[in-house]
This record gives sequence, C-alpha cells and structure tokens, in this order.
Amino acid sequence: MAMASQLRTHTSSLPPDWALQPAKPAHRKVWDLLGAPLRMVVLPDEASERIGLTSLRAERMAAVLPELKGRVLDVGAGDNVLLKLYRRRAAGLSAAKLADAEASVGVDVIDWGGGCRIVRSSAELPFPAASFDTVVFVACLNHIPERREALREAQRVLRPGGRVVATMIGRFIGDIGHRLWWYSEDKHRDVADGEVMGMNRDEVVGLLREAGFGRVRTRGFVYGLNTLYVAEG
Ligand SMILES: C[S@@+](CC[C@H](N)C(=O)[O-])C[C@H]1O[C@@H](n2cnc3c(N)ncnc32)[C@H](O)[C@@H]1O
Repeated sequence: MAMASQLRTHTSSLPPDWALQPAKPAHRKVWDLLGAPLRMVVLPDEASERIGLTSLRAERMAAVLPELKGRVLDVGAGDNVLLKLYRRRAAGLSAAKLADAEASVGVDVIDWGGGCRIVRSSAELPFPAASFDTVVFVACLNHIPERREALREAQRVLRPGGRVVATMIGRFIGDIGHRLWWYSEDKHRDVADGEVMGMNRDEVVGLLREAGFGRVRTRGFVYGLNTLYVAEG
C-alpha cells in the first residue's frame, strides 16, 4: 500500500453551500446539464465548483446530509468532508445536535489527511456495540473488499432505531467512470483484491438485507446514475 504521506491530495476545501441545496434552482439545473461532461468526467470536484458547476462530491453530500441523525460513523470517509459539513450544520442547531456531531467519527484504512481514525479493516471496528445512530458508506462499499462483514459491523455498532446511509454507482457506469476519472482516489493507491468499480442496486440491497436491515429505501440521483440507500430495521 502506498505511503500516507504521498496521499494527501484529493480534496481539502468544503463544497460551497450553493452546491449542497437539496433542490436545485432552474438555472443551476440547466448549467449543470450543459456542464455535465465537465463535472462528470473531465474536472476534479473542486475545479467544477470553481466554475459554478455542482461537483459529484457535492451531489453525494447533498443526498446524504438530510438523512443523517444523531452520532454518525462515516466508514471509508476519505478526507472526512461529510462530517465536517455535518458539524458545520449542527453548529446552528441545538446543543444536543452539536454534541452528537462533535462525537461523530470518520474511519478509513488510508490516511487522506482529514482527521479520520485509521483502521486495519472495516470488518472489526474499534467501537462498542450500540454506540452510533447512523453509519454511512458514501461511494465506498465497492472499494471495501470486506463489505459483507463491514455491514454486519454497522448493524452491531448501531443503536436500536439506527440506520445505514450509503451511495453507490452502478457497475456499468462505474467501470467506465473509473477508467476516465484521472483524478479519483484509487489512482493514488494500490487497488485491493475484491474491489469493484460499482455495484448494482440489487447487489447493494441484497447485502443490506443479509446484514439484517429489513427495510431499504432507494432513490436515484445525478440523472439516476447514482443511488442513495437508507436501510433500517
Ligand atoms: C471513492 S472514496 C470515497 C471517500 C468518501 N466517502 C467520499 O465520498 O468522498 C473511497 C474510500 O474508501 C476507502 N477504503 C478503501 N478500502 C477500505 C476499507 N477496507 N475500509 C474502509 N474504507 C476503505 C478509501 O481509502 C477511500 O477513502
């Protein structure tokens, strides 16, 4: 595996607020559509945001943020941007919400420089049972070879009534995308056995059910190329 010091890269600033609105105004929808080849293939996230296009990371965060509740564990958190946004939002809310956000944790197997707790594997997480309200897997279940065990760990560390929130692109678009995205994080590290470049809805729903989540809600976003999963029960 490549050294962490070589890996401090892929994003550092936060996506701007205008890119995180749950409902886009009409002019942004048009601009995003015209700029789709740029924001979806050519440009890294921050470059898209600099020219007023909604980046793919902002699309993911805008889909996931409204689904987070309580103390959050973000698995495969990368540069930890999601939790930084979650804390920023909580700062304007109640003291209890801010305390939950402050107690939220990002974990990853690689140190991307965002303050994540580094773990050896997501199959065994260093947290007691029933200690989180939400466990998140944003754009990473495909990159986690031990994904089956990681989802069981999510079930273990969730409090009763807790939920898993995940996003995942499909296999076809993921295979093409990962060949084209010259800037993506997998270009800065070794790719592990068992990684895949995308997963279809039936695969993800099947894994969630197998891990004990009886109720799974899905919603397409980015023109249906990406899917949000919210799993409970
Ligand atoms: C495409 S990035 C997504 C990062 C972040 N969730 C986001 O949305 O920006 C995939 C992440 O999965 C992480 N990863 C790879 N193998 C993993 C594993 N076994 N357990 C946890 N995270 C892993 C990578 O280091 C990387 O940060």
